[in-house]
Formats: sequence, structure tokens, C-alpha cells
Amino acid sequence: MKKGLFITIEGPEGAGKTSIIQMLIKGLAEEGQTVTATREPGGISISEQIREVILNRENTLMDGRTEALLYAAARRQHLVEKITPALEEGAIVLCDRFIDSSLAYQGYARGLGIEEVYEINRFAIGEFMPDLTLLFDVRPEVGLARIKAHQEREVNRLDLEALSFHKKVREGYLQLRNKYSSRIVIVDAEAPVESVYRESLKLIMEKVSELSLKK
Ligand code: TYD
Repeated sequence: MKKGLFITIEGPEGAGKTSIIQMLIKGLAEEGQTVTATREPGGISISEQIREVILNRENTLMDGRTEALLYAAARRQHLVEKITPALEEGAIVLCDRFIDSSLAYQGYARGLGIEEVYEINRFAIGEFMPDLTLLFDVRPEVGLARIKAHQEREVNRLDLEALSFHKKVREGYLQLRNKYSSRIVIVDAEAPVESVYRESLKLIMEKVSELSLKK
């Protein structure tokens, strides 16, 4: 039986997800919450190995469907091995990217179709969906400029896509927000880091009280 809360953080490259998640881990602990933070693609050994294949810059021949299937495979293993057990123990699981990344990147930006990619993900994760998704919205020009300014971040195969691809990723995310309007909440990620953090913490804590009221 799931007792915890599953929260995903989504957004294009350079939205600041990683930094804010670090702040949230601390902030939520100060609120007395038990937090497990993880990321996709990866989070555990098998999925990290799949991540290496997907993001390797030498794999220029990778087909879009292969890419989508590999992400779904990594997601399945991550769910079974890490997310579900943490939720069963009652933790708040904060996940850097989840199914919406596949729907926006592979489904919309790569043109495989949001519905089609949703179908292969259903095979991977069934009806399991996040309780809340924070969509860090940033214009691609701003996000990519941030990445360039942080030279220490590894540049992966998807970072090397043209600006037009990143614009589509954003469009895809905004469509998902309309489709899943009760689950996905937009956070303005062009705002200063401190306010992105405060807003995110507030949204998560509201969800915590909403769900504990229902019990
Ligand atoms: P990562 O280095 O984690 O990027 P970021 O810091 O921007 O999250 O690399 C993950 C890359 O994989 C990123 O370009 C988005 C992409 N991705 C997909 O295309 N589909 C997916 O389902 C997932 C989980 C990630």
C-alpha cells in the first residue's frame, strides 16, 4: 500500500531542477518530512547503465523509438526498485524527471506522438502517475544560456539538439499542462532561485496537507 507522496520535477534543460531539488531536500527535512530524492533516467544501477547508453554522445544512430523504449525500461526498473519501496515506507519521493519528460521529448519534440509514447509507458508503469508535478518553465534561450554558463555540467546527446528541438520540448510540456491540469503546476523558473524554491516548497506542503486531510 502506497503511503507516501510522489512528486516529480519537470522542465527543459537549464530550468534549475537539480539546484532546487537540493534546496527542497533540506527544506522538507526542516518541515519534518522524510524525503527520498532521485532522478531519471537513472537513480539505481541498472537504470544508470541504461542512461549511459541513451545519453552517450557517440550513439548518433539511435532511433527515436529505441530511445523512447530505453527510457521506459529505465523507468520501470527505477519504479520497482526505488520509488515504490520508498513510497511504501511513507516518504516524499522527489524525482528529477519522470513520464512527462518522455511525453514532451520523445512524444512531442521527436514527433513519436504523445499518445503512442504514453502507451509504451503504460506497459512500463501501469496506471501509476505522480501525485504532483512541478513544471519549471523557462524559455529555451534562457535555459541553454544557463547551461553554457555552467561549464562543469556534462553535455549530453540531447543537449546537442538544435534550438528548434528545445522550443518543441517546451511546447510539449505546455500541452501536457493543459491535458493534466490538476496534476501539473507551472513554476516560473526564470524567477530568482530563492523564489522558485519558496514557491515549490509551498506547493509541495499544500499537497502534503491536502492528502493527510483525506486520510
Ligand atoms: P540530464 O543530464 O539529467 O539533464 P537535465 O539536467 O536537463 O535533467 O539528462 C537527461 C536528458 O534526458 C535530458 O536531455 C532529457 C532527456 N530525457 C528524455 O528525453 N526523456 C525522458 O523520458 C527522460 C527521463 C529524460
